[in-house]
Amino acid sequence: MNSLAKITAHGSYVPEKIMNNQDFEKIVETSDEWIQQRTGIEERRIANEDEYTSDISYKAVLDLQEKYQVDISDVDMIINATLTPDYKTPSVASYVQAKLGLKNAGALDINAACAGFTYGLNIANGLITSGQNKKVLVIGAETLSKITDYTDRGTCILFGDGAGAFLVEYSEDETSFIASSAGSDGDKGHNLYSSELSETMFGEDLENPGYIVQNGRGVYKWAVGNVPKIIEATLNKANYKKEDLSWFAPHSANARMIESICDRSGIERDKALMSLKYYGNTSSATIPLSIDLAVKEQKLKKDDLILMVGFGGGLAYASTLIRWTI
Ligand code: COA
Repeated sequence: MNSLAKITAHGSYVPEKIMNNQDFEKIVETSDEWIQQRTGIEERRIANEDEYTSDISYKAVLDLQEKYQVDISDVDMIINATLTPDYKTPSVASYVQAKLGLKNAGALDINAACAGFTYGLNIANGLITSGQNKKVLVIGAETLSKITDYTDRGTCILFGDGAGAFLVEYSEDETSFIASSAGSDGDKGHNLYSSELSETMFGEDLENPGYIVQNGRGVYKWAVGNVPKIIEATLNKANYKKEDLSWFAPHSANARMIESICDRSGIERDKALMSLKYYGNTSSATIPLSIDLAVKEQKLKKDDLILMVGFGGGLAYASTLIRWTI
């Protein structure tokens, strides 16, 4: 008997408070024009002071349940991808497990920054196909506003808060998962970090403890150079060509960066699904939020071939080539 893993539902949640580019003009020296031109971002959502990653993760799962009327009472694993957990311990996933009252679910957080959601999906596929689990919730959720320095114009305009969730279930006859790749260029990790302490990393001083610090140019260059290779490697594993893709769902960090990745990879720009225009860079949540928007816009059809590529802090990456099974 086959043990296959199938995506059966998805949901999302974003905080109510909107911060648009004009709001940034009031707090740092920037302009709506600069932000739109360099990033494509128009607005982002900001969590309330007492609203944490577990709260928005939980709400994304409620949205999933409401949209698809799926029974999640027998979920046996919750994977929360996040770099902004409420606490070091308990995990966000444990909070979500308690809030949902899922008595039989294991719970763990993973941190692969902006690649967290695609790592999470691939782990869920592995858990199900190996027979360990039958119903896995994969959540990508961030409250990046809590670690954003709103005096640093180079980073504060980029980030936002949000959550997305997928349900991955055991199936005997249908799989969503076709091929995946993952890796990390850890020696370049100092280009994007957030540390509690002011220390050194690979001999370089760490700045601004508690907040996100980024060498924007460094990350940009790495991403446009490497993501096309990840795309190629993943497609090659399954003997697919770029032309076969229905959609490309990259980590939604910067529209210019994604356009450049598309051009270098030979993927038509209008196949790229993005969430950054409305939500900014929400790290592990960008990909499920892009999928959610695409569903709302009625772009996705059953059996569409979608390549998701998460990349960022680490500098780590993970891709997953899926067949849309909803
Ligand atoms: N508004 C106006 N000017 C700004 C600005 C802002 N918000 N942020 C930076 N600048 C200025 C800089 O101070 C610099 O000025 P100077 O020439 O007088 O020194 C100038 O713009 C160029 O700065 P630079 O950092 O080289 O800009 P850039 O073209 O690389 O754009 C990013 C900056 C952050 C938009 C861009 O590097 C980027 O998006 N990188 C990838 C980041 C990313 O996606 N990270 C997440 C991956 S997971």
